Amino acid sequence: MLEIDKLKIEFLSHGRRVAPVDGVSFSLGSDETVGLLGESGCGKSVTALSILRLFPMASQARLSGAIRFDGRDLLQAEDEALRGIRGKEIAMIFQEPMTSLNPLHRIGEQLAEMLRIHTGLARQEIDARVLAMLERVGLARAAQLVDEYPHSLSGGMRQRVMIAMALLCKPKLLICDEPTTALDVTIQAQILDLMRDLKREQQTSILLITHDLGVVAEMCERVVVMYAGQVVEQSSVEDLFDRPAHPYTHALMRARPALDATPGAPLNAIPGSVPLPGTVKSGCRFTARCARAQDICRQEMPPLEDLGDGHHVRCWYPH
Ligand SMILES: Nc1ncnc2c1ncn2[C@@H]1O[C@H](COP(=O)(O)OP(=O)(O)O)[C@@H](O)[C@H]1O
Ligand SMILES: [Mg+2]
Repeated sequence: MLEIDKLKIEFLSHGRRVAPVDGVSFSLGSDETVGLLGESGCGKSVTALSILRLFPMASQARLSGAIRFDGRDLLQAEDEALRGIRGKEIAMIFQEPMTSLNPLHRIGEQLAEMLRIHTGLARQEIDARVLAMLERVGLARAAQLVDEYPHSLSGGMRQRVMIAMALLCKPKLLICDEPTTALDVTIQAQILDLMRDLKREQQTSILLITHDLGVVAEMCERVVVMYAGQVVEQSSVEDLFDRPAHPYTHALMRARPALDATPGAPLNAIPGSVPLPGTVKSGCRFTARCARAQDICRQEMPPLEDLGDGHHVRCWYPH
């Protein structure tokens, strides 16, 4: 359904071109949930934004490669065609719902607007669907809620409204960028449950962006691990947890707080941080933080190698 092929994203930064995403390829089948995993700054969000070309004009983003959706390259699509796809065939949910909800319009109007743009339904039918959807995502007293403004809702309620808005047109693909990161743990679990149920009902494919291995384990069938703008590992969820091959994936697993950890015990945080785009001149981009690094790692970029069964890793010395 979705095939990202050697995607490169360049920005102009202080007169220099930098590429926070540099040759990323992965695909997503229909009815599949794929996780895009990596620390902050790895290029997950800009990858997601490029699918619908949602960059602000001022960022002067330059995109190359291909993003095929049902066989059609979205990078080559006309703006007009893309407007027809956005919200209808591909919908997106962000970490902070207030970035997509308009504070000046009532909840009901905002949802109705989606259906007005993308369907020829009559007013009454639109209102009925909006109400039904708000109820479906677990919002009590939906009939009153339609007349309220986003600021009067809690974070969890706003995220439910966002999910309702995203699923209103039954999109084939839902892109979720850290959908639960800003929420309390209990609310987070409720929202993940809701997403799972809705996915089953609507048979939507989901690209789930997260830095949280727990969310990946709960939700995904396959995982793409990104590091500094590249795919470093890709596999089924079972394989990733059973046999993580890249030292970065290993480090992410070790950095998770254990359930039975002694209170106050230090976390195995990964030392250092993700290099800024364009700062690693040669070799593997994880070298500076990698305990297994040898000379070749500093000199030559390892290729993405096939370990079998769809498990791929970019490392000279994988586990
Ligand atoms: N509009 C922009 N102009 C220049 N650099 C950007 C822009 N947007 C993002 N970046 C850079 O791209 C890199 C990846 O960012 P992002 O995709 O937000 O990472 P993630 O979502 O994985 O945390 C970061 O180094 C960020 O500073
Ligand atoms: Mg992000």
